[in-house]
Order: sequence, then structure tokens, then C-alpha cells
Amino acid sequence: MRRTCTLLVMAAALPVWSAQPVRGRHGMVVTRENHATEAGLKILQSGGNAVDAAVAVGFALAVTHSSAGNIGGGGFMLVRMADGRTAFIDFRERAPLSASRNMYLDAAGKATQDSITGYRASGVPGTVRGMEYASRHFGKRPWAELVQPAVDLASKGFVLSYAQANGLKNAGRTLGQFPESKRVFLRGGNFYEPGDLFVQADLGRTLERIARLGATDFYEGETARMLAKDMQEHGGAITMRDLKEYAAIERKPMTGKYKGYDIITSPPPSSGGIGILQMLGVLEGTGYEKGGAGSASVVHYMTEAMRRYFADRAVHLGDPDFVKVPLTSLLNPAYMGRLRASIDPERATPSAEVHAAVLTGHESNETTHYTVADADGNIATVTYTLNGGYGSKVTAAGLGFLLNNEMDDFAADPGHANMFGLIQGEANAIQPRKTPLSSMVPTIVMKDGKPLLALGSPGGPTIINTVLEVMVNVLDFGMNVQDAVDWPRFHHQWMPDTLSMERGYSPDTVAILEKHGYTIRRVAAQGECAAILFENGWLDGAADPRTEGTAKGY
Ligand code: DON
Repeated sequence: MRRTCTLLVMAAALPVWSAQPVRGRHGMVVTRENHATEAGLKILQSGGNAVDAAVAVGFALAVTHSSAGNIGGGGFMLVRMADGRTAFIDFRERAPLSASRNMYLDAAGKATQDSITGYRASGVPGTVRGMEYASRHFGKRPWAELVQPAVDLASKGFVLSYAQANGLKNAGRTLGQFPESKRVFLRGGNFYEPGDLFVQADLGRTLERIARLGATDFYEGETARMLAKDMQEHGGAITMRDLKEYAAIERKPMTGKYKGYDIITSPPPSSGGIGILQMLGVLEGTGYEKGGAGSASVVHYMTEAMRRYFADRAVHLGDPDFVKVPLTSLLNPAYMGRLRASIDPERATPSAEVHAAVLTGHESNETTHYTVADADGNIATVTYTLNGGYGSKVTAAGLGFLLNNEMDDFAADPGHANMFGLIQGEANAIQPRKTPLSSMVPTIVMKDGKPLLALGSPGGPTIINTVLEVMVNVLDFGMNVQDAVDWPRFHHQWMPDTLSMERGYSPDTVAILEKHGYTIRRVAAQGECAAILFENGWLDGAADPRTEGTAKGY
């Protein structure tokens, strides 16, 4: 199945060599930070399954990948066990009980920055409950053993990499507004340098309590009391009651078909699964792949599918516990056929001419995705986040962890763009306890009843397109998984009507697309995919070269 040469010759994009994934027989962990990868690998090697390792990675990243790894945020875990059970664990933040539709509008009705920075930006964190849920229902090792690597990394410290130290430095201005964040993450203003030992004593104590007492500490115990007190003192919304009543929700994964593959993906409140299935449904039967990976015609067809999906996303998607999400209509073959038929092979459709089904932004890479598989064939694939880099920039006093700014994923001002330039509608307006709509989309592809590919990415709305692109790179263009992850990416989200493309696309390809009518923006990097391909008994792990991520197997 190493068959990239011919394709690469005909492709208009770089890279021009074939990269190799990391191969393992018994287990594979792919994350964007090496201490976390190693924490997961160690759990696998000492008899833990993929879910145990995923829990250990989740806590380790909360220590070593401060901008996105978290216990103050939330996310999604998609699990497929070797016995065929699947589960989508939704541990995303929920709006506090006191939240209301217009809470981020000023007296003149204009959106403020409060959904992005500061104490009011946070939804009720879900990570600790989510990890506990996963461990209880699908793991087999004791909880404390899974949290311990994170306790050690925090309390003994770890050596900061170039990107980690610079990430903190670059966020210095915003983090520095909050004295506790300045103390913990900026060493009181004397910035950390690459190579420095980063000890997080408060976080170590918090994690030690969680290791000992379980999620109860975070939601009802000392951590909860300290967090609620800090929130109250600074005008934040999260109360003891919000924490106590937080629950992770197990949902049924979305499933669909593409060519001969079975796709298991993320249901609402992720907007991603529906996006992947609709875009694949629109592409199937166009013969778009004949242009060859990286060609202007492939970019064109895929972009047109993206544009049409994002128009639907803006209007129809939200938390299914609060609004009716018209899944059946949006994935109806006749509707997808109409979308397909509306694509002009030679011309970009202006987004102003594309409207959501009548039924009845840009971001930094600061969410994180990791994927784990074990020898028995269990898979856990997780995207979790603080939302923006370092979240709300607020560190909970004495607790050592950053809080999310996930409230900005709601339509704080329906009809107007959020931090990611996403326009969203009433379906995603704020209500107490509601979950903001997400683009995170952990996904598993099956072939003949067996896992073939497990993957996901950060990147706000670009997540959905990154996952789609890596999938078709494997399924339609026959790339090995590392090439599929490395391959240059592009993104369109309906509004703004701009196609962003990584630098790997040649000027000729860009010129053809401009002739078709596209407005193109070149970007340095889109997303950071962590993928595992299952191939003849081997686990091929691919970390994303856009980051310091690693894949390790055994
Ligand atoms: O859930 C979402 O869609 C966003 N909170 C994800 C944010 C993200 O990926 C940020 N950066 N890359």
C-alpha cells in the first residue's frame, strides 16, 4: 500500500517526497507533545488499554501543553472498543446557570470582548468529568495510576521546548493582565526560556487531589470551592452549583458511508460529523479525485463542498438538547445531490449566492487532538480545548490551571462573526446549561468492519476541513498516513468568502484558482492532525510536522 509516487508526480503541491509514519505492532500514541505521548505509551506498555492511555494523555497535556491541554476546558472523546462498542463522550463546557442570550452585548447592543478574555468567558469545565467517565466505562487501570504521570510532570517539572517557552512569551501581554497567570505562566514577568525547568506546584497539588479523590474533588471538593470563590471574587459566572451539576454526556456517534467505507464520527453539539458526511456526500460521484491530489480542480470541488456546508452550519446547527438539529434533511441524498449539481466546474460560486438549506474565523492552533490505539484493537481519539490559546487567560487562584473561553463558541451576537470569523445563528444562541456548538470532530473510518483510520485536529472551523482533507488523502488519493497528514491544506468556511491555502500550493495552482474567481489568502499552517492508520496488523502513527507532536508505538 505504499503507492504515493505516481500521485506525487502528477500533483501540483509539495511535498515531493514520501514521508514515513511511525510503525508499531501493539500500541500507538500520537499527540502534539512528547511528554504526553510518552505518558500514554507507558500506560499501554504496562497493561492499560487505549482509553486508559487517552486519560493519562489528557491529564499530561494539561501540564505540558498549557495553551490547549487542560482541566479547565472540555472536549470530545470518540471511542471504539475491539468488541464493537462505540461511544461519543461529550465533556464539553456548558453555559453556567446564570448565562443569558445577551450577556456579552453592551448597552448599545454591540458584542464585547467578555466572551473571549477574563472571568466571564468560561463555560463550566468538563475535562475531569469526561476523563472519569471514559475511565469508568471503558478503561481497566486504576484512576490514580492514570493521573499520576501528570502529577509528576507538574510537581517535579519538565524542560520547556522552544515552542513551549515562546508560546508563553508570545501570550505574555494577554496572560500578564491576570496576576495569577503572570505568576504561574510568566514567572512573574521574568519569562521562561527554552530549556528551563517548568515546575507547576499548584497544579501538581490540584492533580494530586484529583488522583486521590477523583472528579469529585474538582466538582464538589476543595478544587470546586477554590474555583467558585475565585470566580465570585472576580465577577465570573461559575458557581458551586454549576460545578456540582456538571455531567459528561455519552452520545451515540454519527455514522455514514463514503464509497465502501463506514465513517464513525462526532454528532452534535459537534458540527463536524455532519460536515464531514455532507461534504463527502457532495463529493461522491463528482469524480473530483481524477484531478489528482493538490490540483486546482480538486481544491475547487472540495472548496465548493465546504462553502455549501458552512452556510448550513451557520443557520441550522446547535446543541441538540436545546434545538432541533435537522440532521436528516442536511444529509438527505437528494439535498446533497442538489448541492453537487450547483457546483460549476470552472467557476467559484460567490458565497453571497450560497444559502443555507431552507428547511422547515480565523484562529490560532490552540486546541489539541490526540489518538491512541492498543494491541486489542481499542481506539480512543480525543479533541479537547480551552478554545483560544491559553483560554480566557485566567488562572484559577491557587489551583494552577487556566480556564477556557468556550462561551465565545456560542453566537454571542447571532448573525455576527465570532473570534473565528464564524457567523452563527439562533440555534447556537446562549442559554443556561446549553453546550456551545463545536467544530471538533474526532473520527474513525472503518473498512469491512475493521478500523482503517482514526484522526482529528484542532483549528476552530478549519478542523472540519483538515479532517476531511486528511481522510480523502488516504481514501481517495492513496497516500500513506504521514503523507496524508503532511500534505498542504486549505480552508473555506462560506463567510468570509476567502480560500486560505498553506504555502505548499504552487503559484500556478493558485493562479488557476484565482482565474476561477477565488480570493486567496496564503497561511503558514492549518491545523495539527494526529492520525493512526491500521494496516495489515500494523499501527501507523502520524504526528503533524506543523508542531512538535510525536507518534510513538511499540
Ligand atoms: O470547539 C470548537 O470548535 C473550538 N472551541 C475549537 C477551537 C480551536 O480549535 C482553537 N484552535 N485551534
